[in-house]
Amino acid sequence: MTYYFISDLHVDFYAPMTRTVAMLRKHFEIFFERNFLPADACCIAGDIANDYFTYVEFLKFIAEKYSTVYVCLGNHDIITDYKGRFGFDRDFTTSESKIKYFLAEAEKIPNIQLLEKRIADDVAGCMGMCDFKYKHTPTASEITNKILWTTRWFDGRHWKYMQNDTGKLWQHYDRVFRELTAQRPKIMMSHFLPLEFEMAERYKHDPYSNFFYFHGAKYLENLDDGSIWQAGHTHTAIKREYTDVLGKKHLLLCNPVGYPDENPYAEHGLKREDFLVKVE
Ligand SMILES: [Fe+2]
Ligand SMILES: [Fe+2]
Repeated sequence: MTYYFISDLHVDFYAPMTRTVAMLRKHFEIFFERNFLPADACCIAGDIANDYFTYVEFLKFIAEKYSTVYVCLGNHDIITDYKGRFGFDRDFTTSESKIKYFLAEAEKIPNIQLLEKRIADDVAGCMGMCDFKYKHTPTASEITNKILWTTRWFDGRHWKYMQNDTGKLWQHYDRVFRELTAQRPKIMMSHFLPLEFEMAERYKHDPYSNFFYFHGAKYLENLDDGSIWQAGHTHTAIKREYTDVLGKKHLLLCNPVGYPDENPYAEHGLKREDFLVKVE
């Protein structure tokens, strides 16, 4: 069975304001031709859109292109203070209520599997979170990382998730990562990245880098040899093999579309065909 792995669509940046769903779908079609490849199944590792309307319409659209589409949430998908595409109606008071709405909408589309702390077939998924433990300088600390997240960072300012309690957020996703990987799925999806994907040199001393990553070795160890971990969030395409302490090999994949002014493939010379993978 072939899977096409992709993430960080930010499709609202490519589908301008339109009055009708039909026009929106025309933009989706162009976007699909540019960025996707045919496969049996597609895995989308978060950041589909800031606004809920585009998000749901895109799920309906992409469901027609593959026999199954697995999706996990991204940090942009759960922001609460973005007005709807047509400038009216629904505002979500919390990220939880937006997630609940997406899960209910996804449930109505038969071949969409929106995975938030769930496993379907051989695929497990959740958004994930950073663990605040990455230190960009030896003097950096978890406490200062958390303060910076709450006061300055996009997620801290635009989410209303678990009262934006940094401790609670990480404890929750730490438990979810442990529980999901313990079930040994063939494919594990998250939006946030295990540090084992490795950070590009230019981000290593950036204090904001810790908001993208968590230490993932202990979760990767739970998976079988030959498993895949797909992540998103950084807008640099990555494909690498990781060997855990037990000698098992895991394929790490990150294939973001990114924003219109970005070129995620440039750094490692990758192409979309690299993210079409056969899984037995
Ligand atoms: Fe993104
Ligand atoms: Fe993201």
